[in-house]
Amino acid sequence: MPIRKRPEFKRINELQEGNVEISYFLVESIDIRTKADGEEFMAIRLKDRTGITDSRIWDDIDRYRELKAGDVVKAEVDVRTYKGKPSLNIQRMRLLQERDFEEGFDVRWLQEWSEYDIDELWARLKQMVDRIEEEHIRHMVHSVLGAKEEVFKKLPAAQSMHHPYFGGLLEHTVWLTDNCLRLLDNYRELNKDLVIAGAVLHDIGKTEELAGESRVDYTTKGRLIGHIIQGRDLLRKHAALVPDFPDDILLHLEHIILSHQGEREWGSPVVPSTPEAFFLHIMDNFDAKMRMFLYAMKNAPADKEFTDYHRALERRIFLGRVGKEAEAEEPIEE
Ligand SMILES: [Fe+2]
Ligand SMILES: [Fe+2]
Repeated sequence: MPIRKRPEFKRINELQEGNVEISYFLVESIDIRTKADGEEFMAIRLKDRTGITDSRIWDDIDRYRELKAGDVVKAEVDVRTYKGKPSLNIQRMRLLQERDFEEGFDVRWLQEWSEYDIDELWARLKQMVDRIEEEHIRHMVHSVLGAKEEVFKKLPAAQSMHHPYFGGLLEHTVWLTDNCLRLLDNYRELNKDLVIAGAVLHDIGKTEELAGESRVDYTTKGRLIGHIIQGRDLLRKHAALVPDFPDDILLHLEHIILSHQGEREWGSPVVPSTPEAFFLHIMDNFDAKMRMFLYAMKNAPADKEFTDYHRALERRIFLGRVGKEAEAEEPIEE
């Protein structure tokens, strides 16, 4: 993913106490609170690719009442610490303007993206879809991808659980589908076409459940209906566009989408009851958890032996290295 060179401004993890800096930030959340003297102040969570920080606006907050989560701002901040954590006093702030883009601003400076080239991932996904032999299924899957390309290439797989970065949904879908294809040779009883279509489409409802340009959040429909049912609706809609789409295939694919979360308490209305649906649920869970594991390790501080307790994985992860990797970390003696 080519990212244009950023101008010289400090990232959140580079801010140093006592300095005044001008930088770009994403507004994560805003809270209006009251000081001891009854005056209101604003507590704003600011974010960029490198981290998240608290900030305050103490005076004249009426100027900023229109500000909302997801806005991008340019701000002059006085870097302080509050209760041992960095806290920024915002001295001046304005919303991002057209001229920032003219000067080369790219919202990706602030967002975390997949490390992989998005267009390459997309091409790989379409190639895997081409391996579907049954042509109604193949046409239907291409029809869904054609309709959802723009959002599919951009969204994270989840807000925070797994692959929480832009492009994460596509990365997860490509890895899952590829993993399924690799294992299918050992389970030849399974219908390959259903597995590929199920893998590619299992989370397609997320393209309607989540939305946002600079910051991703649940849509109203996403909160009220959820990606499982939204995915089934999309599947039905696109199957109806393919003349004579077979009813039995549609039923199998609906079951894969509806059951992919595996358990009723994990949000699926039915448990996987076909070998293809069971396989897909396990593989989906595997890719999501494996990436969660590796992502937690990647983001852990270099000097720690274990990560912080990971709530979703219910453990701390050991950060020590073994074998050659450990040797490479040893200082070389002259
Ligand atoms: Fe899902
Ligand atoms: Fe998934």
